[in-house]
Amino acid sequence: MRKYLQNLLLRLENVFNAPFGQALNPWYHLGAITFFLFWTVVVSGVYLYAFYRTGVEEAYQSVERLTHDQWYAGGVMRSLHRYASDGIVVTMLLHLLRNFITGRFHSFRWFSWVSGVLLVWLVYICGINGYWMVWDRLAQFIAVGTAEWFDWLPLFSQPLARNFLGQGDVNDRFFTLLSFAHITIPLVLLLFMWIHTKRMNNAETNPPLRLAVGTLLALLALSLIKPALSHAHADLALAPGVIRLDWFYLAPYPLLYIWSPGAVWALAGGITLLLLAVPWFLKPRMRPAVAEVHLDNCNGCSRCAEDCPYSAIVMRPRQDGRPYALQPVVDPNLCASCGICTGACPYSMPFRSNELVSGIELPDHALATLRVDVDHALAGLRGDVRVMVFGCDCAYDVRALQSEEVAALSLPCIGMLPPAFIDYVLRDTRVNGVMIAGCREGDCQYRLGIRWTKLRLARQRVPHLRRRVPLQRIECCWAGIQDGERARAALSALRARIAQLPQAAILEDDTREHEFKPGDKN
Ligand code: HEM
Ligand code: SF4
Ligand code: SF4
Repeated sequence: MRKYLQNLLLRLENVFNAPFGQALNPWYHLGAITFFLFWTVVVSGVYLYAFYRTGVEEAYQSVERLTHDQWYAGGVMRSLHRYASDGIVVTMLLHLLRNFITGRFHSFRWFSWVSGVLLVWLVYICGINGYWMVWDRLAQFIAVGTAEWFDWLPLFSQPLARNFLGQGDVNDRFFTLLSFAHITIPLVLLLFMWIHTKRMNNAETNPPLRLAVGTLLALLALSLIKPALSHAHADLALAPGVIRLDWFYLAPYPLLYIWSPGAVWALAGGITLLLLAVPWFLKPRMRPAVAEVHLDNCNGCSRCAEDCPYSAIVMRPRQDGRPYALQPVVDPNLCASCGICTGACPYSMPFRSNELVSGIELPDHALATLRVDVDHALAGLRGDVRVMVFGCDCAYDVRALQSEEVAALSLPCIGMLPPAFIDYVLRDTRVNGVMIAGCREGDCQYRLGIRWTKLRLARQRVPHLRRRVPLQRIECCWAGIQDGERARAALSALRARIAQLPQAAILEDDTREHEFKPGDKN
């Protein structure tokens, strides 16, 4: 079932790849867009707060003045506040769904998942609390509904709903309390957003600038076209009458009356428990072996810790008596078995004539085995334009590209490939070019594999690809499991380019390197 959904999702995301490009596709930045929307809500909220008055009458009147008397500023800010809050629900739930469909919730990701489930509750509490502040008929409906919902629980000696029986039951202090809550709860939400991303190295909490500007402009346009408006002033003596619900936040409220408060508790509690259990119920039977440190080949440089996407490596004081200050220690619970640390280690050097062991390696994917596989693959190449392809197990299966002239090897993540291996391959006269393939850009299964690979090839992040390696013989291709056409096109482009070059891959005096920037597309 999840496989089917995954295929559907990949197709859908591809539709967005056409206008946005892989790097700006909003599907790949849902968490970061949620952060951006949160800040939009904060900024617009601060403006609204400056004009908001607490009080049974003043609350409603001050919001009305903001909406109508200064529609160009206060009105726009109110609408921005409303629509950005709605946006948070949309992007957060899509982010949840996407992480579920792509299987990004179990093992080392359980913490992100569980803290994410708590975020859903906090977002809803913030949003619903916001609607109370206006104190119109919609607020009245929500206040009474929420009170009746909580009264179902055996928590209070007096039913909460009694506080909303008549006009005199609500006083000014109630609004002071509401506005205090409307500052405190978002602060708690922010704290949990921080906790949610804390375990991830270099978590993307800001979307790309163009995406942020586009989102803001879309919200502004919506605010001008369809400004957020209040209902009539709340009147507890009357039934709220016909109201326009914000379905993003308030969809469960009609259910309180169609079903019963108990049934809505069962639904909300059931979904929450189910979501919380997902990482343990749907985890794969086998977990790949985690990274292992080989202190004999480690100088404590910390590169592995800096590149690890899940902060699974901490640098501790050296224990083996060698003259280095630090040594890496892997937390097996956090390790994703991606191998990106191996790609970062200066000891991942295939030119070594002695036994090839890096400072940190995946036991199931030893570098020595990779070198043997490379040598074996190169020995089998024939033809005029011979290419070695390195791919990623989570992306398009590059082994489908194999032919007499093309050899292909797949790694757990393309970030595991040490740049020295590209140098090693291209120094061999049996090969003319190298293609590097990985997940769609922005959708790296291990978050940072593509980013670090691009920076290493651009010689902007250690370990650098050595200067002598001619970049015109290297092609990068970011292709998801369905993107065979893209991978084949990239391979053809590389082979066509190579056909124009001198035969040998590495020429010591070859100075015609084209600039390879991290932003380069295929
Ligand atoms: C306020 C709501 C949320 C915000 C602002 C948020 C934000 C983020 C951010 C910024 C990341 C890091 C992205 C990256 O750098 O790769 C992330 C990752 C993640 N989020 Fe959320 N998130 C929210 C809600 C949720 C929810 C509801 C769930 C699921 C229940 C969830 C599950 C995850 C998981 C599993 C990851 C790790 C993905 C990976 O390892 O590739 N998040 N989130
Ligand atoms: S395998 Fe990946 S997650 Fe594990 S320590 Fe290495 S870089 Fe970190
Ligand atoms: S990158 Fe290699 S040498 Fe540097 S600390 Fe990690 S294991 Fe040791």
